[in-house]
Order: sequence, then structure tokens, then C-alpha cells
Amino acid sequence: MGWSARDPGMIGVAAIGAGRMGRTHLATLGALPGIRVLSVTDRDPAAAEAGRRLARAERAHTDPAVAVAEAGVDAVVIVTPTGTHAELIELAARAGRAVWCEKPIASGLAETRRVLATVGAAGVPVQIGFMRRYDPGYRAAKARIDAGELGRIETFRAVSRDAVCPPPAYLATSGGIFLDLGVHDLDLARFLVGEVAEVSAWGAVLFDPAVGAVGDVDTGIAMLRFRDGALGTLELGRHTDWGYDIRTEIVGARAKVVVEAERRTPIAVSRGMGTATDHHPSFPERFGEAFRDQLAAFFAALAAGETPGPGPEDSLETLRLALAVTRSHAEGRPVRVEEIDG
Ligand SMILES: NC(=O)c1ccc[n+]([C@@H]2O[C@H](COP(=O)([O-])OP(=O)(O)OC[C@H]3O[C@@H](n4cnc5c(N)ncnc54)[C@H](O)[C@@H]3O)[C@@H](O)[C@H]2O)c1
Repeated sequence: MGWSARDPGMIGVAAIGAGRMGRTHLATLGALPGIRVLSVTDRDPAAAEAGRRLARAERAHTDPAVAVAEAGVDAVVIVTPTGTHAELIELAARAGRAVWCEKPIASGLAETRRVLATVGAAGVPVQIGFMRRYDPGYRAAKARIDAGELGRIETFRAVSRDAVCPPPAYLATSGGIFLDLGVHDLDLARFLVGEVAEVSAWGAVLFDPAVGAVGDVDTGIAMLRFRDGALGTLELGRHTDWGYDIRTEIVGARAKVVVEAERRTPIAVSRGMGTATDHHPSFPERFGEAFRDQLAAFFAALAAGETPGPGPEDSLETLRLALAVTRSHAEGRPVRVEEIDG
């Protein structure tokens, strides 16, 4: 990797975006050793100031261009809405800054490719926030698969159900259930099993007519045929009465691994003929460790002069797969992933 931090022992950081997800990441940045958060930027000045305090940063800004250009900035952390990622990544890359950005780079393939070309020309390291790759369960599953413990992979099964359906205004611009909710499972399919050749998807409005009114579905099923012949399924739902419901199973010739959200509180109450435990309410609680570890890994890679990941190419391929599933559902036919090229 050609890029290097000015002082690998103390990496200068400019953080942009202090909203819902940004506040989680800013609290992490404020506690990470080996970095110095120079500024927090949000176009809302009150959010920028609140974020500055969370990250223990030196300055608050409202203009990303000012923050990125400041002396001493090695890396830019971007946690703004998806529609702004491409332009902010390019701004940082052109200034020679390393980039960590929330997923996805963009909602379209052409824009994502343009960003890849810009960061490629700038030669800066880029990591995208597919945080499940840093969850201890998925990391352990990956290590066992890579070590050959499962033998040939036969099937992959992922279940993702949000506890509470997002509001219709959010869903209207989310890109649909397969992109918005399914993208993490599709990234895991690629991470754990490999590239997908063909997909088939069905969706239905079974719970909330307001979801149908904005052109989305609240329940979705996708089938995956991997290039190496393995088969997979993905089940998505927008509501549960029992909490955040995330499960992944990889079955091989010799063993299977299951990654499942453990209970939130380490207590089980048995009474009568049943046992009760609790669940995580949503992703910040279930994946708290992954959210922290992905940022720690990014800065550790920069300090060591190594390439961080998952990088922009992974983001592009996972987006292509999610768009293939979305097209299969929209057009009611199987879609080969290589069809998605626009
Ligand atoms: N990895 C995950 O599981 C996960 C979960 C939730 C959200 N996300 C991603 O995080 C990103 C942010 O989501 P959120 O829920 O925090 O959004 P949000 O709307 O709560 O916060 C975005 C913040 O960015 C600020 N902002 C907007 N445009 C800006 C600009 N050009 N310059 C500076 N500040 C700007 C807004 O004022 C706001 O404070 C999205 O891309 C989303 O996909 C990822």
C-alpha cells in the first residue's frame, strides 16, 4: 500500500455526520487509542457540537470541505446519509485522506464505479461499513470455513427480521427490502460462501399496507445459486413481536455452523412448562462489538501500513448482488448476477 499516515502512532481523524449512526461511531472514536479526532462535522451545527463532545474532538464544523482540508487530517470517517457518501468519499480521496464510510458507497452501480475510479487514482485506503464481517460469530464462522472444517459448502441460510418497521417516508427512498435490509446478509453470503451466479426472489405485503403504498414489501424471500454450485436462501421481514431476529446457517459436507443472536440478558426464567429469555431489540445492541471492532481494525490497518477491508470492490459486488435480487422480485423471473451491469 503506497499511502501512509504522517504519524502511524497518532492518526488524525475528521469525522463527518453526527446523526443516529454517527453518534455510535463518534463515541467509539472518542475512546479508541492511537487516533486524534481533530473535528466533527455536521451540516446541523447543534449536531456537530454534540458530536464533537462525544468524540472528544477539538473542533466542530458544518462544512465537510473545511474539515477535510485541515492540516493533520490522515483519515476521514463518513456517517452521513447514503446519498452523500459518493461525493464525500471523493472529496476525501482527492485530498489524499484514507476513508472509512458507512455502507453503501451509493445506491447505483455507475456512481459506485465512479467512486472506485477516483479512490483508485488517488491511491488511498478505503473501508466500507459492512460491520457483520467483524462480529465475533461471523469471524469465527469464516475462520472455520477457511480452515476447511465444514468441507464443501452445500447450503447457506440467512434470516433477518427487524423488530420494528421503519416509517414509510424512510422506506420510500430506501431502495427496497432486498437492498436496505438484505444487503448485510448478501454481503455475508459472499464473505462466507463466495460469489453468487443467479438469484430468484419473491416479496409480499403481509403485515403493513403502508409499506405497499410506497412500493415496497414487508416480507421477502430470495434464493441464491452460488458459482461453485452451493445453494442459499434469505428470509427478510420488517417486524416481529419478539425482538431483532438474525440467524445464519452454513451447512457443509462435514459440519455446519450457526450464527445466532444470543439473548440480550444472560438470564433464563423457567416456570410451569416453559423457559423465557430476552432478545436484542435492534442492530446497535446485537452488533455493538462489530460496530466498534470494524473501526478499530481500520485504524490498526492504517497504522500497520496494511490494506483495510472490506473495501470498495466488495461494496460494488454486494450492491450488484442486491440489485439482482431486487430485479428478480420486480420482474418475477430468475436473474443472473452478471446481468446487472448498469
Ligand atoms: N451498518 C449498519 O447496520 C447501518 C445502520 C444504520 C445506518 N447505516 C448507515 O449510516 C448512514 C447514516 O445513517 P443515519 O441513520 O445516521 O442517518 P441520520 O439521518 O440519522 O444522520 C445523518 C447526519 O448527517 C448529517 N448530514 C447530512 N448531509 C450532510 C453533509 N453533506 N455534510 C455533513 N453532514 C451531513 C445530518 O445533518 C445528520 O445529522 C447511512 O448511510 C446508513 O445507510 C448503517
